[in-house]
Amino acid sequence: MSGPHAPVLLAEVIEALAPKPGDVVVDATFGAGGYTRAILATGAEVIALDRDPTVQPHADAVANDFPGKFQLVRTPFSGLAEAFADSGKARLDGAVFDIGVSSMQLDQAERGFSFMRDGPLDMRMSGEGESAADIVNTWDHGPLAHILKLYGEERQSGRIATAILRRRISHPFTRTLDLAEVVEKALGGRRGAPTHPATRTFQALRIAVNDELGELTAGLEAAEATLSPGGRLVVVTFHSLEDRIVKAFLTERSGNAPGGSRHAPVAVETRKPSFVLSFKGAREAGAAELAANPRARSARLRAAVRTEAPAWRAAA
Ligand SMILES: C[S@@+](CC[C@H](N)C(=O)[O-])C[C@H]1O[C@@H](n2cnc3c(N)ncnc32)[C@H](O)[C@@H]1O
Repeated sequence: MSGPHAPVLLAEVIEALAPKPGDVVVDATFGAGGYTRAILATGAEVIALDRDPTVQPHADAVANDFPGKFQLVRTPFSGLAEAFADSGKARLDGAVFDIGVSSMQLDQAERGFSFMRDGPLDMRMSGEGESAADIVNTWDHGPLAHILKLYGEERQSGRIATAILRRRISHPFTRTLDLAEVVEKALGGRRGAPTHPATRTFQALRIAVNDELGELTAGLEAAEATLSPGGRLVVVTFHSLEDRIVKAFLTERSGNAPGGSRHAPVAVETRKPSFVLSFKGAREAGAAELAANPRARSARLRAAVRTEAPAWRAAA
């Protein structure tokens, strides 16, 4: 197993958040606390969120190093506004999201995220709710093929769903490597492909198990509703499905969406921008970071500053 998660785009995150002494920042994806520690080091306070209970020892270490400046709330992004309200703080100056799984989660076979390590077919970040095994053992062909296509961008989704349904009649799935093998066989083996044939299937199941895209949207809306005017929103994503959501959200909320749809109610077009983009497009890792941390390869950072305008969701 490797060491704790190496924070990705850390310098760029801190530059975009620009925390100052006395500021209050939500780190919505605490993980091993890499971002949190860097934010605390500037003199700002941090309210951290994570829905994975196994991050607690990292949180205890941070609390010990920065007494009175840090708290961890075990909640999904959808609980961000409530966590901030419960903190009793008057202003929120920044919110940062580092979307996806941590390397601790990926590296621990018993979490079931990896098709490279044998473990229970779980994938639940919170340890609660429907597991990946529940999905592959009980969902019908249509919905299963649908998530493989939608969340895994898997072109052979129907073929994989058929193989899964056939196999589970005799042996329900319980282990990661077992599923990886069935997917590999359904796709006719490796055929010299650079990535494992089960990569897309595992990505799709992980996103479905954790409702990752729904959570991302809920988190962005909660940040919009909670950030004070002048507060900064910084989001790091790791695949195109996530980046598309963040880009669409910020483009729309900053008033940069092209024209109004003829289906859109007039009120949508007349809303005032709730964010100003900090820069155009997305920042990516530089050569030095890529050499040190290959995980940074697909990372995209987008950032925006909250305006005085009401949150769009509340204005609807
Ligand atoms: C990529 S890691 C964050 C690493 C962190 N920036 C660091 O420097 O150590 C993502 C973390 O966010 C958590 N997470 C992912 N989605 C979440 C959600 N919807 N709600 C709360 N926590 C979530 C995961 O459990 C994981 O610990």
